[in-house]
Amino acid sequence: MTRTAEPFDAIEVIRAKRDRQTLTGPQIDWVVDAYTRGVVAEEQMSALAMAILLNGMDRREIARWTNAMIASGERMDFSALRGTGPDAGPKPTADKHSTGGVGDKITLPLAPLVAVYGVAVPQLSGRGLGHTGGTLDKLEAIPGWRAELSNAALMDQLSEIGAVICAAGAGLAPADKKLYALRDVTGTVEAIELIASSIMSKKIAEGTDTLVLDVKCGSGAFMKTEPMARELARTMVDLGRDAGVNTSALLTDMDTPLGLTAGNAIEVTESVEVLAGGGPADVVQLTVELARAMLAGAGVTGVDPAEALADGRAMDVWRRMISAQGGDPDAPMATARESHVITAPESGVLTRLDAMSVGLAAWRLGAGRARKEDPVQAAAGVRMHAKPGDTVQAGQPLLTLLTDTPEQFDRAMAALEGGFEVAGAGTAAADGFAPRPLIIDRID
Ligand code: URA
Repeated sequence: MTRTAEPFDAIEVIRAKRDRQTLTGPQIDWVVDAYTRGVVAEEQMSALAMAILLNGMDRREIARWTNAMIASGERMDFSALRGTGPDAGPKPTADKHSTGGVGDKITLPLAPLVAVYGVAVPQLSGRGLGHTGGTLDKLEAIPGWRAELSNAALMDQLSEIGAVICAAGAGLAPADKKLYALRDVTGTVEAIELIASSIMSKKIAEGTDTLVLDVKCGSGAFMKTEPMARELARTMVDLGRDAGVNTSALLTDMDTPLGLTAGNAIEVTESVEVLAGGGPADVVQLTVELARAMLAGAGVTGVDPAEALADGRAMDVWRRMISAQGGDPDAPMATARESHVITAPESGVLTRLDAMSVGLAAWRLGAGRARKEDPVQAAAGVRMHAKPGDTVQAGQPLLTLLTDTPEQFDRAMAALEGGFEVAGAGTAAADGFAPRPLIIDRID
């Protein structure tokens, strides 16, 4: 195709945003489409992404950008899903998306929990990049489990079992795939407009009726401050609503990791503890709150999802969900060849356990990847023995580092330097310490 056949010129669009103008709808449609086709060059899109990061986009521009990314690929349709039984009606669908954090294994217990109540959960997920873990990497620690499903297999599993966690197919918002990879290497990931349109283009294309967003806020999250997290949440909720998806958001803490594990196999084991009615209180609380929001959005009221964790119904769905994708829910999980324990330097109260430090340490131990094509170690990660607010004794284990490659210990320990604080017993810092609440706000 020759350049003269194109209705716009990339340089004009870049200049317009550089000069703080509002892009027109046709300009946005064209630039996203032409970039996907390879007509707008990588360096041109990277200049435009930087101009957007610096000068922003208004609500109309963000909505148009999101729609253009949706239009670059397929849209899924779950409207034909039916419950089981001869006169079963249509099944509502609900999905959750987290903006990413450390120890965030919530999808694992949440999807089967919500499915217990007859709501289908199509949880199309990704792999981890950088310090935040990926849901698929965690589940791939289960022997035999397969992330890739055809659309037909996904629909069958949704109608029969009600919950699927699988890889998002290449057909959903391909423009975002290309643009996200470019943003990753051009310092433009952090633009709220681009994060919101990236996440929501995939979620709207996925076709869920209800979407609950878990927008993380704190050191281990994209959004370090509460005002930024609020703005992201508000933007995404508006985009979802405008597209006809029943969308709400929880704003949740990510200054400290979720639960007591950050890694792959160890996070699966912790999720199974939650499904067995136990597990760390914060993981249980967030799982139940997100389940409530998803169920309410799907019109299921008057139920207490905590009961289905306690009585084994969610565990039954989990076992069927894992088996349906080739996994053995009873197989022993991989254990790390080497471990190293970090102990409390003094007796007192643990007042800080920094999510970013723990996430980086787990990543350096081999739980995460630096490049998309890198493998991850199933057993690598960080086990936490105390959380902020806990009393600790000098010399007691605080963190256990796990890896198959012990040469990584030094770099993991460097990541944890300054990443935790113990306030001496009886000091004002210890006595007056109150951890930040896990659930900061709800945005409807
Ligand atoms: N997750 C996404 O899918 N896109 C972003 O831009 C950031 C997080």
